[in-house]
Amino acid sequence: MKIVHSAAALEGLLRQYREEGKSVGFVPTMGALHEGHAALVRRCAAENGVCAASIFVNPAQFDNPEDLRLYPRTPEGDCVLLEEVGADIVFVPSEEEVYPVPDNRVFDFGLSGRVMEGACRPGHFDGVARVVSRLFDLVKPHRAYFGEKDFQQLVLVRRLVEMLQLPVEIVAVATVREPDGLAMSSRNRRLTAEQRVCAAEIFHILRESLLQAEKLSPDGVIRFVTGAVNNVPELRVEYFNIVDGLTLQPVTSWRGPGNIVGAIAVYCGEVRLIDNIRYR
Ligand code: PAF
Repeated sequence: MKIVHSAAALEGLLRQYREEGKSVGFVPTMGALHEGHAALVRRCAAENGVCAASIFVNPAQFDNPEDLRLYPRTPEGDCVLLEEVGADIVFVPSEEEVYPVPDNRVFDFGLSGRVMEGACRPGHFDGVARVVSRLFDLVKPHRAYFGEKDFQQLVLVRRLVEMLQLPVEIVAVATVREPDGLAMSSRNRRLTAEQRVCAAEIFHILRESLLQAEKLSPDGVIRFVTGAVNNVPELRVEYFNIVDGLTLQPVTSWRGPGNIVGAIAVYCGEVRLIDNIRYR
């Protein structure tokens, strides 16, 4: 596995692989890697001639400076894991390498960008879109892999690819969970032992809400989930929305075309966690 820090070195390496006729798969990450990332890289390595990953904690997507400061950074361990699970290239750029000139682009994702994470973290998806489009420009992947845990991000990255007409296929990979159901996240390592136990309740309650959805309306399920999560010590719901899986707009009935997803953001102490569940 090759570790490169400059855009020029990355492009040189990828050129060689392209000349050999290999398809390029790409997994962008912010590091602090866990089994969820490992699943993305394994799939990427299995489906492409070359698997490139990046590690870059992107300041542009953090609306909260404290969250950026506390974001876990474990580059050595990350590279060990990436090599084990089949990455061929790891791009670990500096901020200057990613943004050689200031990038102030603002992206209009319509109403889908203004709900949930878009509403709670102003500017977050502009930051994600800036870095993802810039990384795609450098890597020029045939396929790029994103986790379903960041459900709204996945939908908006697909939209970004359409808007910019980028020749990349976005591949969604299922959320990887701890044995007790907690969705894997780099932020989990900031939880205390007691908070970690409470955090597992988020998915237990989401799973129980599948049964509630057989008898309650979407609004009833929202009340059930919000009440149950807020009753768990340490947990505080920021939002729980039940939305159309494509438009991300709230649904008021279980009927109608398309899929329906419940997406939640919860503070566990000071740590913000997100998860989601599919109802249909
Ligand atoms: O999901 C993430 O880790 C980040 O949002 C991403 C896609 C790597 C962009 O910084």
